[in-house]
Amino acid sequence: MMAGRTTHSHGQRLRRLIPCVLFIVFAVHAVSFALYLLLQSHHPPPNPAEPEPQTHESVRLRAPSSQKPWPRLPSLLPWTADPSLPPRSCEAYFGNGFSRRVDVLPEGRGGWFRCHHSETLGSSICEGARVRLDPALIAMSRGGEPIGQVMGRAEEEELPRYEPGALEVEGVAAGRTGPLLEPGFLDAYVPADGIGMHTMRALLDSARVVPPGELHCSQWVEEPTLLVTRFEYANLFHTITDWYSAYVSSRVTNLPDRPNVVFVDGHCKAPLEQTWEALFSNVAYVKNFSGPVCFRHAVLSPLGYETALFKGLSESFSCEGASARSLREKPDPQKTARLSEFGEMIIASFGLLDDGIVSSKTSDGLNVLFVRREDYLAHPRHSGKVESRLSNEQEVFDAVDSWAKGQKCKINVVNGLFAHMSMKEQLRAILEASVVIGAHGAGMTHLVSATRDTKVLEIISSLYRRPHFALISHWKALEYHAINLPGSYASSADVISELRNILKGLGC
Ligand SMILES: *[C@@H]1O[C@H](CO)[C@@H](O)[C@H](O)[C@H]1NC(C)=O
Repeated sequence: MMAGRTTHSHGQRLRRLIPCVLFIVFAVHAVSFALYLLLQSHHPPPNPAEPEPQTHESVRLRAPSSQKPWPRLPSLLPWTADPSLPPRSCEAYFGNGFSRRVDVLPEGRGGWFRCHHSETLGSSICEGARVRLDPALIAMSRGGEPIGQVMGRAEEEELPRYEPGALEVEGVAAGRTGPLLEPGFLDAYVPADGIGMHTMRALLDSARVVPPGELHCSQWVEEPTLLVTRFEYANLFHTITDWYSAYVSSRVTNLPDRPNVVFVDGHCKAPLEQTWEALFSNVAYVKNFSGPVCFRHAVLSPLGYETALFKGLSESFSCEGASARSLREKPDPQKTARLSEFGEMIIASFGLLDDGIVSSKTSDGLNVLFVRREDYLAHPRHSGKVESRLSNEQEVFDAVDSWAKGQKCKINVVNGLFAHMSMKEQLRAILEASVVIGAHGAGMTHLVSATRDTKVLEIISSLYRRPHFALISHWKALEYHAINLPGSYASSADVISELRNILKGLGC
């Protein structure tokens, strides 16, 4: 402060005044601009139910969107939600069976709310217009912090607990405030089905309808937005189930572009967040909004546990991967190309789909990608050590590498140290691989992005005999081989002999 100084020359005064005046002019402009923005955002957006002007050709012109367009996916098949699809069929499991539409609040002059139910998955994708989330009524950590700041934080703190009214939807009838859903709705359409903490069910349970004009928002989000709660957010397998659910939710609700994502959880920042950002448009944490936030169109993405990828671990259903081309020619609900469509979505998000990798794959020898298990800090409760599922992994890797060097055909053994590679590098390695070898571990989930001609060799310890990657291979129609170990020690000779057979099939 300058309070102690009493005498100034005119020159000094002027020199000190000029920046002040400039600052005041700037401040006045800034404040009026901020007011303008504030008034804009308080102004409710035009009613979505209002009929839109139609042209004679019935061509709708869409305003340019700030959201990313969907990439062109060669394996994309229409999302029809065909009610005649047999329940428990392959296509129904992979998300095309959300065919039972339940209108909770019909479209009218205010908001609306509806759910798309899949009997096969026992799950619903719900969506609404003029929907409000109030971060003050959601108890959990803020989320998005660097992991070093929150070491030791309990998992329960990172998961949402809702107070009544955490979710609100604007209704059409004046004077009615009450629960959005009738008793029994959740049991019928969003069953807990063994999930101890079913956060989507709890969010819906908190939901209220408010009369027109009583949706009080500090901010409006105009673009379609997915509300997502992650559980095992640092693990690639579980995160891929979340991505798959988010992708299916976007398709079932027919979103014109890639939506925004709002995490309704309080997890700290993890490397996989960058892939959320690559796949979708903007990504934010709900607790990071400064007040109640309103969505013109929100979609509640079901938990990853409700996807075929997860359900397949405990439920048996018949489902075989097939090419989109063969299904276009001859539809078969017991086959699916959805996992290939989704894998293409991932690689397209990193600009790798049209990169010529696939066509030039074998031009410089055959790549054998060895997916390694590495120590990494997964979450605030993690010790930084992964469990050993192949106790002599380095020895096996070295043996395979030196064997490959002595072969007549050119074999490049790639050391898949995924924890040290960016997502784009990991995906590129998967795409370039003719054979993927690995011990059972989340890194193998990248197989969803592998091309059809990729061959898989999984080394399975007796302690982790679970079907994750055999299933993914089957659902993608990849040739799959396994070596089942009596313990967690593998004989290098056995691995090499199996690899030699696989490579023989590739003309090597
Ligand atoms: C929280 O919001 C601020 C201001 O909008 C933004 O700069 C920041 O990146 C956000 N943080 C997270 C973790 O989303």
